[in-house]
This record gives sequence, C-alpha cells and structure tokens, in this order.
Amino acid sequence: MTSKQRVLTGITTTGTPHLGNYVGAIKPAIAASRDPDTESFYFLADYHALVKCEDPERVQRSTLEIAATWLALGLDTERSVFYRQSDVPEIPELTWLLTCVTAKGLMNRAHAYKAAVDENREAGEDPDFGVPMGLFCYPILMAADILMFNAHRVPVGKDQVQHLEMARDIAQRFNHRYGEHFVLPEAEVDEHVATLPGTDGRKMSKSYDNTIALWLPEKKLRKAIMKIKTNSQEPGEPKDPDSASVYSVYAAFATPDQRERMRQAFADGIAWGEVKQQLFELINRELEAPRERYEALINDPAKVERELARGAERARELSRPFIEQLRDAVGIRRLG
Ligand code: TRP
Repeated sequence: MTSKQRVLTGITTTGTPHLGNYVGAIKPAIAASRDPDTESFYFLADYHALVKCEDPERVQRSTLEIAATWLALGLDTERSVFYRQSDVPEIPELTWLLTCVTAKGLMNRAHAYKAAVDENREAGEDPDFGVPMGLFCYPILMAADILMFNAHRVPVGKDQVQHLEMARDIAQRFNHRYGEHFVLPEAEVDEHVATLPGTDGRKMSKSYDNTIALWLPEKKLRKAIMKIKTNSQEPGEPKDPDSASVYSVYAAFATPDQRERMRQAFADGIAWGEVKQQLFELINRELEAPRERYEALINDPAKVERELARGAERARELSRPFIEQLRDAVGIRRLG
C-alpha cells in the first residue's frame, strides 16, 4: 500500500450544484487534490441518492451536472480518482460483508434514522413507519465507500461526523474478527471554510430554498444576486459589513485586498445596489470560463461518461484485489 495520505469524499447525486456547494466543498476539494502528498478519491454517490430521491430522471441529471461541474472547475483526473459509486460493484459487495459485522443497535442510533422515528412517535405512528432499509443501512454503505479504498481522511460537513464514527466502529469490528484489513478513517471538518449565506441571510442550503445555482447564465446570476436580502439603509449611510450577507458572499470570493477595499466602501456608505453589482462582477469573472466548459460538457454527456469510466477503471484496480483479499478473509473461497 502507498504511504501517501488518502483523502476521499462522496457527493450525493440528488441536486444541482449551488454557490454554497462550490465555496464550501467543491473549490476546497479541487485545491486539496493538487497537494502532492495526498491521493484523492472523489465519487458520485448515486446509490446514496436512491435513499433521498425517488425520481430516476433527477438522479441521472444530477449525476451529469455534478460530474460536469467538477470537471469544468478543473479537477485533475490524472492526479485524483474520479468515479461513480455504482460503477464499482465491489462497493455493494463490501457493504454486505460490513453489514454482517455491524450491530443493529449502532444503526438504531444514527441521527437520520432517529429523526424519522421521533417524527413518527410524535405523529402517533408506528416508529418505523415509512422508513426504508436503505435509510437504516445508509451508514454501512457509506462505510464501504470509505473502507474500500482505505481512506485516511474524509472531508465532510458536520452532519456527517457521526457516519464517520460509525465507519470507524464497523472497521474495528471487522479488523477484530478477521485481521487488520482496514485503516480507521478520520472525519475532516474544515472550520475555516466559509458557510455561505443564502439569499435570505440563513446558511445557503437546498432545505431553506435560498440557494443560487452555480451555473446560472450571466443575466440570471446577476438577477439572483440583486435579490440577496439587505437592510433599508440609504446610499451614503455607513454600513456594517459584518452583518451583511452580501459582504459575506463577497468575502468568500474576494482576495484580501478586495475585501479591504470593500470594507472601506461600506464605511464610506456604498449603496447596496453597487455592492451587489461588484459582487456579481467578482463571481461572474471567476465562473465565466468554467461555465463555458460546463455547458460544453453538459451537451456532450458521452465525454463525461468516458471520464467516469476511466475513473472507475482506476478505482477498480484497487477495489478488485482488495475485495478478493476480504472475501478470502471471511471464508468465501475456492474449494480445494
Ligand atoms: N453521505 C454523504 C452526504 O450526504 C455523501 C457520502 C456518501 C459520502 N458516501 C460518502 C461522504 C463517503 C464521504 C465519504 O454528504
């Protein structure tokens, strides 16, 4: 096995990338993948998507959009392994091996499952009403994603930290029973990465319906930015950047110099409309070239498919021998 640190993360293919995903996850991941001391694995978690989304068209479309996004933004697919989960059949196979060592009680404690149960209790329903096994077993599939490639570090949002603890727990049980096969992965929650406010000032998130899509055409992007909520202070009045979401969004895209100048402009009473215009120009400049590449990829899904197939081939160079080793470890072997 290589001595390089392995970093791995998955993106569930249920939605359309927005500016918050870009600033909070995609941009830092692409930057991190250039670190020569790490080997990075990024994948489209389409099996996970089935737990959250029942619309086949949407899963397919989201897979294309997310893959095209990462490629358009310059993910180096020579350096990192970029693949689709469902192209690696060793992952669901490992899921079963892990399912057999996972305590049901551990899954009972998963936040997402518990939330569903609590909701049912409150509604006076059976506790497991409407809970599919996919939701219940979601953390085991996620553990398989991670353990399949013996990732050391897994960059995730805070909401996924419990899943990482579960992956460690499952890995430990497997190692204890069958020998040391798995690295114990660590969650990497980046506290420095800005959480971008959405158009209403709360954290930009699909669940608040306050997002700005990453690949809006120029005019629509401008319009969306113009709609970000501000207070009613007039032009000429000094304004406080630290309580203005337009400023937080600006800061997430700006250089330190640009930030300083914008803070000064706030003190000098810049009009909200002018802040937004400058914000639009800043974001648009950064996204203009990748947007063209994105449009080209969306219109050429076969090209995206080829990239993913190549990624899967590279992933399977690792997963195929490893699943053989694991099958042997549990006693699934040739006879004689
Ligand atoms: N569950 C993660 C999320 O909702 C996505 C995911 C699936 C993932 N498999 C993973 C993240 C493996 C990191 C590692 O965000």
